[in-house]
Amino acid sequence: MKRDLVTISDLDNTEIEEIFQLSDALLEAGRPAARPGALTGKIMATLFYEPSTRTRMSFESAMQRLGGSVISCPDMRSSSAAKGETLADTARVVSSYADVLVVRHYWDGAVQAMAEYAEVPVVNAGDGSHEHPTQTLCDLYTLRKEKGGLKGLTVVICGDLKHGRTIHSLVYALARFGVHVVTLAGQGMELPRYVIEQLCNEYHYTPAPLVSHDLEAVVDRPDAIYLMPSKPHQLALFTRVDDELHDRLSEMVSGLRFDAFYVTRMQKERLREPLAEEKGHYPRIGARFLKEKRFKDALVMHPLPRVDELSPAVDQDRRGVYFKQAAYGVPVRMALLSFLLGRAVPSRARPARSEKVIYRTPEGAVSLCANVNCVTRGEPGSTRHRFEMLFAGTGDGLNIRCLYCDHRFNVHYIGNSRSKRYCTYGGGLREIVRAWLRAGELIIFESIKEAEELAYEPYRMGPQRYLMDETEVRAALERMSEAIAAGTEDRDRLMIVGIRTKGAFLARRIGAELEKQWERKMDVGEIDIYGAGDKPQKIFPVEPRLPAPDLHEREVVLVDDVIHTGRTVKSALSIIFQSARPRSVRLAVLIDRGHREVPVKPNYVGKHIPSSERERVRVKLREVEQDEKDKVVVYSIINPQAQADREATP
Ligand code: NCD
Repeated sequence: MKRDLVTISDLDNTEIEEIFQLSDALLEAGRPAARPGALTGKIMATLFYEPSTRTRMSFESAMQRLGGSVISCPDMRSSSAAKGETLADTARVVSSYADVLVVRHYWDGAVQAMAEYAEVPVVNAGDGSHEHPTQTLCDLYTLRKEKGGLKGLTVVICGDLKHGRTIHSLVYALARFGVHVVTLAGQGMELPRYVIEQLCNEYHYTPAPLVSHDLEAVVDRPDAIYLMPSKPHQLALFTRVDDELHDRLSEMVSGLRFDAFYVTRMQKERLREPLAEEKGHYPRIGARFLKEKRFKDALVMHPLPRVDELSPAVDQDRRGVYFKQAAYGVPVRMALLSFLLGRAVPSRARPARSEKVIYRTPEGAVSLCANVNCVTRGEPGSTRHRFEMLFAGTGDGLNIRCLYCDHRFNVHYIGNSRSKRYCTYGGGLREIVRAWLRAGELIIFESIKEAEELAYEPYRMGPQRYLMDETEVRAALERMSEAIAAGTEDRDRLMIVGIRTKGAFLARRIGAELEKQWERKMDVGEIDIYGAGDKPQKIFPVEPRLPAPDLHEREVVLVDDVIHTGRTVKSALSIIFQSARPRSVRLAVLIDRGHREVPVKPNYVGKHIPSSERERVRVKLREVEQDEKDKVVVYSIINPQAQADREATP
């Protein structure tokens, strides 16, 4: 079986040690040796969808020094990717040309997706903000060489800990080798929660706020977290540490010896709101650091490229080891390539992960991953949408982890695909979820709307209450249409777009209302936020024979039946803005039931109905109802009990 290196967890500590010993043997008087016979006849393909100097060139140099050769596309924008070729197809094709693929991509999890389709080993040269495991090998190798070992060291990681992929792979590896870590993040660039959770749950790290003025020599306002390897459950994650423990920690920390500062640049290309995040302080290493006695033995490391966080003043100092770190890229990558290709490597398909409870999103359902930069959202067709069920976690939802980008998040709606019923998830349903999963009947929904669009019914409902009848629905729509008309600047630009399916019926009715008022034809479209099967999410004309509406420079009014968390509207907006740049977008909903998760406020509301989370507000429209009458009803959703579960899965 082939071995991929997608995350640093794909190599165990013994294997990393083996790679380091091989790297030692490949260094002759500090320079990488040539081993022309080692990989003769083997071909490495480099596929870089993002810029690179060190990683790509040191990989290419490594392969050539081993007697192998290199093929590559000088710029993936000039490859078939520019014509829309998928990652899956590229991986299949290129793996028939080469014996190993080295891939860098801007989406988190993209390399995992390619590894699933490639027939040869795939090495991650950096995927979005996720991981960069071969940089970590160079970092650990440098640290080990300079300090004589790893266990018990204390490393301060500085800068953009949120987006820095080198940081994420590095902290997991440091954790595994028993290194203490102090985090010193730029403002708003702290280690992401999913990384901290992984450090605590899998590597038994104990994080504690660091009460120390030691680091003032580096930054003006040190906000640091001290992470130490410890026994599981000694301290809970960020719960208030009790006073005694707190004192002990600060005592321990104030006597701390810092062995290395790992500095990183701000990953500007990954900031979503550059201005907001750039304002704060950012740790920089320069003359002040060099003068500080306490740091006299602290190495300064950097994956490079640097911008202004690391002053050239450090270049001449013995502590600055970043050029060495970059130079070790060749022997370490030579060792890695020999390890992956040179002989029969033990196959190890991430044993730790394969034992986990895995959920695969069925065909037709949406990608659940909450990370907008995840490959499962960027290119759903090249992924298998797999999630690990963690069950426990913070908050009250069902905690799951994306197996591509590692992000962890909660989902709230689950269903049984055999009985076609859904319900809200609560801790009491854990065993039911496991049973449905074993039977292959579990489906997880992003929202109630998604469940109902896929024709699922609430598991059991309480008695129904009527909130609006036909006359009230008609009056509300008339009022909304008038308000929309009054708020429209340019009638020629107005375009009513309904969210399928009920929002689309309401959009037609509002369109008809305006046609009556203005005595002119109105443009009405529909948007499908879920897509179905291979059909992507899209904007459609109301009449199939018309061309797809172009929203460029239009005054769009988005229409839906009920607004609840706001996620549906958020998805619709992202589809709209992917397709065009409208002049404005307004939102009209028949019912606003509150409980928003995203900051979305409708401009036009038929009726506000405060309802509890466990209630379902349902708009029934004459277009689809048997009795051809409009109404709005509310009922409570009752979760399946153990008894009901037995009925559902005998
Ligand atoms: C890093 C990367 O690409 O993530 N560069 C590298 O591989 N040495 C760090 C960075 O770009 O800041």
